[in-house]
This record gives sequence, C-alpha cells and structure tokens, in this order.
Amino acid sequence: MTQMFHLAWFVANGFGVQGFHDGWNSPWSGTNGRDFAKADFYVDFVRSLERAGFDYIMLEDSSNVPYTFGQSHETYVKHAIATPKHDPAQLAPILAYVTQHIGIVATLSTAEYHPYMLARQMGSLDHISGGRAGWNIVTGSNDGTAQNYGHKGHHPHDERYDRADEFVEVAQQLWASWEPGAVVMDRDTGTFADHSKIHPINYEGTYYSSRGPLNVAPLPQGRPVICQAGGSPRGKEFAARTADTIIASAKGVAEMKAFRDDIRARMVAYGRKPDDCKILFLVDPVLGESAEHAAERKVRAKAEFDANLDRELANLSRVTGIDFAAMDPDEPFGELKSNGHQSVLANRIADGARTPRELVTSRSSTDSLGLSGTPEAVAAQMEEVMAEVGGDGFLFGPRTVNRRSIMEITEGLVPALQRRGLVRTAYDYPTFRENLLAY
Ligand SMILES: Cc1cc2nc3c(=O)[nH]c(=O)nc-3n(C[C@H](O)[C@H](O)[C@H](O)COP(=O)(O)O)c2cc1C
Repeated sequence: MTQMFHLAWFVANGFGVQGFHDGWNSPWSGTNGRDFAKADFYVDFVRSLERAGFDYIMLEDSSNVPYTFGQSHETYVKHAIATPKHDPAQLAPILAYVTQHIGIVATLSTAEYHPYMLARQMGSLDHISGGRAGWNIVTGSNDGTAQNYGHKGHHPHDERYDRADEFVEVAQQLWASWEPGAVVMDRDTGTFADHSKIHPINYEGTYYSSRGPLNVAPLPQGRPVICQAGGSPRGKEFAARTADTIIASAKGVAEMKAFRDDIRARMVAYGRKPDDCKILFLVDPVLGESAEHAAERKVRAKAEFDANLDRELANLSRVTGIDFAAMDPDEPFGELKSNGHQSVLANRIADGARTPRELVTSRSSTDSLGLSGTPEAVAAQMEEVMAEVGGDGFLFGPRTVNRRSIMEITEGLVPALQRRGLVRTAYDYPTFRENLLAY
C-alpha cells in the first residue's frame, strides 16, 4: 500500500516582505512590496494551502534589524532581509479565522516571551482556530534581538535549550491547569466553572517561576501542536523530548533518513512513540512545462543567487552571528564559532565549504533533493524519496514566494501527489494534531 505523507509550508521570511531572495520587485512579485504588511496576501496563501490539504503553514520570525554583516543595517534594509518583519502572533488569528482545517503555526521565541504570556497567547489562538494552533519554538540566534530586550547578547547555545526545556514545562503545566471538564456552565446553579478542577501550578524553577492557573479555558487541543527545528545535537535532544513535528534541513536521502532515525531513537529514550512526531524535510522543487523548462529555470535561479553574494552572506551572518563582510569571500576561513544556528554552519562545512562564497553556494538550505521537472515527474521523485526515508513528509520552503509560485505547488504539484494517493484530498479530523498524527 502507498504510504501517505504530510505537507507543510515554511514562510521563510515570516510576516515580512516576501521574496527577498528573488526580489520583491521581480516580474511575478505583484504588489508584495507595497502590500506586504496587509493580511490579504496571506489570506489567499493560506486558503490555497488548505484547498490543497496542507497540514500547516509555518510563519517564521526574528525580531531585530540585523547589523552583523559589516556592522551595518545597510545590506539588510536594502534587500528587505528580515526587515521589516511584523509580528506573526498578530497574523495567525486572521489566518485561523479565514480557514477551517489547516494548522496555523507561529514562531515565538523563548528568549523573548515569558512562559505565562506565551501559554495565554497560544491558548487563545487554539480557541479562535477551533484546535488548530501550533507553536514553532525557537531559542534565539542573533545577539541583536537579545539587545532589543535589554541583554548584552544571547545566553550560550546549549543553555538556551536548557531554558527552553523549563519554559516548555511551565507552559505545559499552565495548559493543564484546568482539567478538561472544568467549564460546567450549569445554568441551574449559575456556575460557569468548577473551581475544584482549576489548579495553581506554583512552579519554581532555575529560570522561571509562575503561580498559575492560566486564565484561559481548557484548550480544544489540550496544548498547541509543538513544532521545532534545532539541528544541533542539543537541539535534536530538545525536539525529541517535546515536538509534535520537526522541520528539518537535510541534504539528500541518506542524510534525511539518518536525521529521522536519530530523532526516533531519541524519542524512544524519552519514553515517546516515534510516530507521535512528524519530521518534515525542507524542499524547493523547480517546476516546469517540461524537464528542460524546469532545468532552465533552475539554472537561472542559481545564477541569480550566485550574483547576489552579499545578500546571501548577510543572511548567513544574521543567523550565525559571524561577520562575513570582514572576510575575503574567496579566502579559506579558519575555525568558525557560532552561538547562533550551529547546524546551519556545520552542514555546509560538512559539504566541503571552505570559503565564505562556498558557504552560500555549496548548499541551498532548501534545495535538499534537487527536485526538478514537471509536476508529475517531481511527484514521482517525492514518492521515491519518502519510500526510502520512511516518512513523514515535506516542508515547502521556496526561495521564491509569490502568488504564482504558490499556485505552481498547490494547483500543479499537489494534485499530482494526490493522484498518486500520497497526500490527503480532504481533512478527516477537526483538530490540527489529529490530522497530523492520522498517518
Ligand atoms: C525549516 C527551519 C525553520 C526555522 N525557522 C526559524 C525561525 O522562524 N526563527 C528562528 O529564529 N529560527 C528558525 N530556525 C532555526 C532553528 O530554530 C534553530 O535555531 C536552528 O536550526 C539552529 O538550531 P541548532 O543550533 O540547534 O542547530 C529554523 C530552522 C529551520 C531548519
């Protein structure tokens, strides 16, 4: 029997100017530059994904005007890299309101929130969406963000995950602070909720404390779907313990399979069932009318990418905290140390990158399989890959995001996958987690 898999979409520039890679001013970007701060584009976007049966849309986030590259904001604001970036927590309820089935995942950083505030916000989203809220847990990367919140820089990489462990524990306890039957709405006695089923948590930890209970009624899903992306050993450990879905950047089938096997083994060590977490791998398929047409589009996209070295290096500087403007792009770098996204660097160095230029050209983080061709051909490639990896699905994270590129996936590729019986044609359950764990 064909093994079905899941689909999600990673909105890689969050609630920001879409298409900073291909240009907000490209021929197909429409009014994305002018209208980026309005909800209309995202409303069309999420409805298209829901029509295609996606499990979820994931809104990336970051929270500073970066300056790591050349110690200046210039490259970032020129190309709209992570700037401006509006708050995904404001967009998520709108997307929930205009849809009925798809999961809405917002990125909220443990470095920027207190667990109580986050638990309340996510709880509210789960209610507004009727059980479709998701939280992408990030722990912070760029020191500029920490500085915006009054700190000198971020805590050390692994300590951030220790804090995140505790953060999640507090949030989980707050979501459980109302027993499921606490809201009784007994008209005869005039009792809305039964106080004996609502409990303070009185949490006192190393990093956080909170009295509780949460002032949000029991969540439709009990707790939001938890999404995570850390690729370092410490990040994987955190995800294995906590996540319902992991979004992963891995290159090639062998790396994907190894990543998935590794996470599943770690989950078992935490007493979890491996099938309770769906690992989705980033892809950026290039579609065309024919194999040749797709190949030609790919060559053009690569040329455009390579011609914008500063833009790509600036982005890498932002997530790693390393100033690549201070280096000769073609001189080998020595040892690179990052307190930011460690796996991003490690993967590219493992691919053989030895100079800053090679860091950006060696691996596009999303072009992990080199998928290219007609929708039918790409669907066949995806089927083969999933069969080898063992599951669970793919995360589209295209460098080009505009109404045309979205339609190519939702109206071209997904129907081809549906014809092969690989992805859903209708949602079976009311909540996000139930659909995610259905197969
Ligand atoms: C698909 C994907 C999406 C991510 N989205 C975000 C994001 O929205 N915000 C963020 O700060 N980091 C994001 N990250 C970075 C991860 O949360 C994590 O910080 C990064 O992978 C480094 O983790 P590591 O140091 O454990 O490798 C993302 C990573 C991946 C692979």
